[in-house]
Amino acid sequence: MAKVLVIPGDGVGPEVIREAVETLKLLKKTHNLDIEFEEALAGGCAYDATGSPLPDETIERAHEADAVLLGAVGGPRWESLTYDVRPERALLGLRKELELYANIRPAMVFGPLLEASAIRPEVLRGADIIVVRELVGGIYFGTPKGVEMGSDGVRRGVNTMAYSEPEVERIARIAFKLAEKRRKLVHSVDKANVLEVMELWRLTVSRIAEEFGHVTLRHMYVDNCAMQLIRDPRQFDVIVTGNMFGDILSDEAAMITGSIGMLPSASLGDGTGLYEPVHGSAPDIAGKDAANPIAAILSAAMMLRYGLEREDAAATIETAVERVLDSGARTADIARRKEKVIGAREMGDRIRAAMSDR
Ligand code: IPM
Ligand code: MG
Repeated sequence: MAKVLVIPGDGVGPEVIREAVETLKLLKKTHNLDIEFEEALAGGCAYDATGSPLPDETIERAHEADAVLLGAVGGPRWESLTYDVRPERALLGLRKELELYANIRPAMVFGPLLEASAIRPEVLRGADIIVVRELVGGIYFGTPKGVEMGSDGVRRGVNTMAYSEPEVERIARIAFKLAEKRRKLVHSVDKANVLEVMELWRLTVSRIAEEFGHVTLRHMYVDNCAMQLIRDPRQFDVIVTGNMFGDILSDEAAMITGSIGMLPSASLGDGTGLYEPVHGSAPDIAGKDAANPIAAILSAAMMLRYGLEREDAAATIETAVERVLDSGARTADIARRKEKVIGAREMGDRIRAAMSDR
């Protein structure tokens, strides 16, 4: 019996996670999926209840679980808090605690949504990218960091971008292994023309590439990559990059799917993995049944694939999502003008219905 720790979190998190969990419950029946659920607090709601955005109990239970399914954290209510107790700390804390160094964010075009993107359909058709983002290093965690008052009375803020060779080696290997099963092309994205740390990144990725002779490695500067993603997204297969560049480029890549509401993610280390939609807590639409649950449902599919080795069940979800989109079902974020809009619950119901009538 696999134990899944469910962390609904804040904003639209509980609404979209409910749909993901219902979908998994259906698979228990139809695919003999042997899982049980537990719930834990993290984010702003955890801060309100316990004074900490990431209670120790949540960390312990995450370690004990086989997989963690998370909704979203954060919201305007908590924005005035100091950094150490902000809801976002929960996410960064979980990543660090579980040593989830590889964040995998697939961005692919769903045929029926070609028109939902801001990118022209003929540029987009067939695009299928995986962004592999380093998640527990780089400027997010480097030291020194902080804001200090200088002796001259001028305040100065500092963060440090740092990578060690082993940190780059392990994320590069993940990218090459993924590419092996796909189109065998890796773009390593850096800023080696300006930053020493990125020159080491580039040299290290090149060295690891030698272990994967049949995979092609191309290096690209991050500014150029930001442009190329929009100019010709089909040139990419797997993109591997550092923490902050990956944060930015994966939001940009979301436009390939038409909406960030479509984008799932997996954060993997050597133990328990964490699966979450990329979209965040979307406080403006929280509580209105207006969110797109597809990113959360596809995150559950990634959990089945990468965490529980149930490719069959993962594929069942993905096929159902495709069919439901084909049938014209649209939440607000992916609807074009005049298209009928449905809520999160109904989208979830339709996906589950499509899973059952095969
Ligand atoms: C993401 C988010 C997070 C990040 C925030 C909420 C801390 O933007 O997962 O991409 O910057 O990593
Ligand atoms: Mg982000």
